Amino acid sequence: MTARLLDGKAIAARRRAALAARIREAGFTPGLAVIRVGEDPASAVYVRNKARAAREAGIAATTHHLPAETPEAELLALIARLNADAAVDALLVQLPLPAGLSAERLIAAIDPAKDVDGFHPVNAGHLALGMEGIVPCTPAGVLALIAETGLDLKGARAAVIGRSRIVGRPMALLLLNRDATVTLIHSRSRDPAALCREADLVVAAAGKPGLVGAEWIREGAVVIDVGINRLPDGRLVGDVDFAACAERASWITPVPGGVGPMTIALLLENTFTLALARRR
Ligand code: GUN
Repeated sequence: MTARLLDGKAIAARRRAALAARIREAGFTPGLAVIRVGEDPASAVYVRNKARAAREAGIAATTHHLPAETPEAELLALIARLNADAAVDALLVQLPLPAGLSAERLIAAIDPAKDVDGFHPVNAGHLALGMEGIVPCTPAGVLALIAETGLDLKGARAAVIGRSRIVGRPMALLLLNRDATVTLIHSRSRDPAALCREADLVVAAAGKPGLVGAEWIREGAVVIDVGINRLPDGRLVGDVDFAACAERASWITPVPGGVGPMTIALLLENTFTLALARRR
């Protein structure tokens, strides 16, 4: 079988245009504040893309870029100020943070009603209990991609590879909440390829270039690659061996142009959802 391409770039562009129309109709300007600390080069690109996409959708985006040496107390004070700022509907701290700063403490300081990433323990807890509110943007974007394939998640066997708090864990819970039978594969799993080969849906989020080979994929599976890995030669590749797995999958995402653009589209949608909730 040769897989059909799940074009995240095109799907995200469509969703962003639809969102921009809804924001115009709503007649107000949602506000998004992004905190970036230090000089992680990938984060610089992501934050720039998020802010630009937000402005294109009619969202007022402000980026607060602070030096890596910023004391945690200063960041907590900034978060408190943005929590109290009526013009800010949505707030995120870009990860990873420089050594010495606690992502847990900073995220816990965000007002859960402005937590656009869905990382605050209150929102993560709601997701774990099956009471979904704001959910993390990347796994939400993956769900939107799966919807495009027509795969019925009810009773489907899903393999999620990677157990990060940003992608793997919330992804597994979102799939479970939709009645999939979920296997969460991680670095200590025995025979991950055999576990994965059982799945109708594979979501790879391990951060290991080319980890998932053809022998991991069941014929006809939907394969979603969340990995974004920079090789020494500068190439950007996912966690999935695309050429090999495309021979077996029914649908597959490219890297780049698959999940990445969806993360941004869902961030903007989450921003508008929070903005609407604050005006109710
Ligand atoms: N770093 C990588 N992905 C994300 C994300 O979705 N949100 C934040 N805040 N940081 C990230």
